[in-house]
Amino acid sequence: MVDRNGRGRSRNHPVLTGSPRSPPASFVEQANVTDPEIYETFEAQWPECWERAADRLSWDEAYDTVLEDEDAPFYRWFTGGRLNAAYNCIDRHLESGRKTHTAIRWEGKHGERRTYTYRDLYVAVNEVAAALRDLGVEEDDVVTIYLPMIPELPIAMLACARIGAPHSVVFAGLSADALATRMDAADSEYLLTCDGYYRRGDAFNQKSKADNALLKLEQDVQAVVVDRLGDDLPHVLGDGEYDYHELRETFSGATVDPVSRDAEDMLFLMYTSGTTGEPKGVVHTTGGYLAHAAWTSHAVLDVKPEDTYWCAADIGWITGHSYIVYGPLALGTTTVMYEGTPDYPDRDRLWEIADRNAVDIFYTAPTAIRAFMKWGPEYPDRHDLSSLRLLGSVGEPISPRPWNWYYEHVGREACPIVDTWWQTETGAVTVSTLPAIDDMKPGAAGPGLPGIDVRVVDEAGEPVEPGESGYLTIARPWPGMARTLYDGDDRYLEEYWNRFSDPEADDWRYFSGDAARIDDDGYLTVLGRVDDVMNVSGRRLSTTEIESAITDVAGVAETAVVGRSNGTGDTEVVAYVSTEGGHDDENAVREAVVDSVESAIGPFARPSRILFTPELPKTRSGKIMRRLLEDVANGEELGDTSALRNPEIVGEIQAEIRDD
Ligand code: WT7
Repeated sequence: MVDRNGRGRSRNHPVLTGSPRSPPASFVEQANVTDPEIYETFEAQWPECWERAADRLSWDEAYDTVLEDEDAPFYRWFTGGRLNAAYNCIDRHLESGRKTHTAIRWEGKHGERRTYTYRDLYVAVNEVAAALRDLGVEEDDVVTIYLPMIPELPIAMLACARIGAPHSVVFAGLSADALATRMDAADSEYLLTCDGYYRRGDAFNQKSKADNALLKLEQDVQAVVVDRLGDDLPHVLGDGEYDYHELRETFSGATVDPVSRDAEDMLFLMYTSGTTGEPKGVVHTTGGYLAHAAWTSHAVLDVKPEDTYWCAADIGWITGHSYIVYGPLALGTTTVMYEGTPDYPDRDRLWEIADRNAVDIFYTAPTAIRAFMKWGPEYPDRHDLSSLRLLGSVGEPISPRPWNWYYEHVGREACPIVDTWWQTETGAVTVSTLPAIDDMKPGAAGPGLPGIDVRVVDEAGEPVEPGESGYLTIARPWPGMARTLYDGDDRYLEEYWNRFSDPEADDWRYFSGDAARIDDDGYLTVLGRVDDVMNVSGRRLSTTEIESAITDVAGVAETAVVGRSNGTGDTEVVAYVSTEGGHDDENAVREAVVDSVESAIGPFARPSRILFTPELPKTRSGKIMRRLLEDVANGEELGDTSALRNPEIVGEIQAEIRDD
């Protein structure tokens, strides 16, 4: 097994997964992909199998070659082909008579609702594209977009795509410094932002963050500002700043021909955090990325043009790029986007939206599912969720208890759940069950998708035995993969390829940075990032594994496990636990936690400390900040906590550990 200290290997322990369930018959009957031989077909026809993905798109010019690997691992897909992403997401649906079909249904923070038909989207995207051109944006100029979850965000992305200008969307909740770093790294001279936005009851000032970022930059920047808050937040426009709505007026009715892009031309850049502090600018292409996003929306999420489909993520991260914007719009479906949080104005916000819009497919993250579980079934129970057909999970491992809760209380045992493993770098889903074909195993994401060669390997790159854990690698390229890092090819090789590849043998292995276990049936249980692996008394433990045992305890809503050095070189397990309402007997929960960990893993994995906290510290994208909890447990200096969604919780946790 893998660990930070690189000491030896040990057997992994059989935990984490629940009993398998077969796909509900009512789902299978109508599913997009139903032929179980798809796995063999993809193997037999590889790499031509990926033409099925490319066939989901409309090409201006057909590609000559599916895959060019001469310069591996700098692979090139669908070479010679030309296409435009905005044309694929909009124009072609107008041409096929679907003008009045709803493209985007937007649910605003204060109950506002907006609906964009494909025709409306066409008009808006063309006007913004014309305005950007007028400001001087040329093909291949990087345009930064710093907008919250308002329709102007996907409109801006598609306007960039239309004129062949790669966008770099920076999550609206990131700081001025983060925005400046990303604009500087991409040498971006154009910014789309807004005056501010609402979160919970408050109006947040986005413009002042953008202003501060621009002050740090050397380049001159032209900015387009969306007036989101009107009189709630008056703002003034300075030099080089333009009002979005005025620009749309100016270019009212303008059209811009979609620029035909080479399949390998950059569609967008997406910054993500690496092992070092420097964010990595992940480069995605027009042909391969869009084909992979569209194909997986079809094959994994079972999206159909007539569906109302909802991925409740933020477009500021890759999930929203692939599964709110590009995948569903390429398929011509109705994509829902919502602004705000699941618990405002009440904890049934999402179910109210799903009910009112008769949502067919719902895709969210385990962190949200654990919150729903904590709040209790009465919230989904208030609404009619019978329109739902399929549920998805992404972003973290989902352990069996929240999985079952989601299956029972949201899916009413009638919807398959796809637990999709992928990354900013993979572009689209790479590991998941196919919902009409494969049994679901709660806690295990599933096998590699057809054509994706996932291998769990040891330190030497050799496959581990089934049931053992190791490093999650991928042995062949796939269309949606990142092509490089904007910061340079060397860093790309260093971060993802050097560790497990053998360049002399021309044998290239992508390393994901995750640890996983692979079972006899080829299902992958993701154990978390490799640096989340602890060494306790010479045994390697995955924090995720212990956490799964803890969340199995009735009354536990959420937990995070970290290692604490006891001063003699050994690591002790510290568990932070937040409980569901009605489970205030901490001693009872504590005992049950110890029992569960002991029986799932072994006495050596028992937490030496269990600390109760009302909430766990989370990043704005909803990931638990384990590194911070580790520092708290070890009594270390804490770094900057301002990037947290709930920084106020840190003091409470520190007090708790001191008093313990
Ligand atoms: C990391 C990638 C790709 C969507 C959002 C996150 C973890 C993602 C799963 C899953 C277990 C998962 C991995 C991965 N992850 N999906 N279904 N089961 N872990 O994108 O920010 O690039 O993070 O998220 O650790 O490496 P990201």
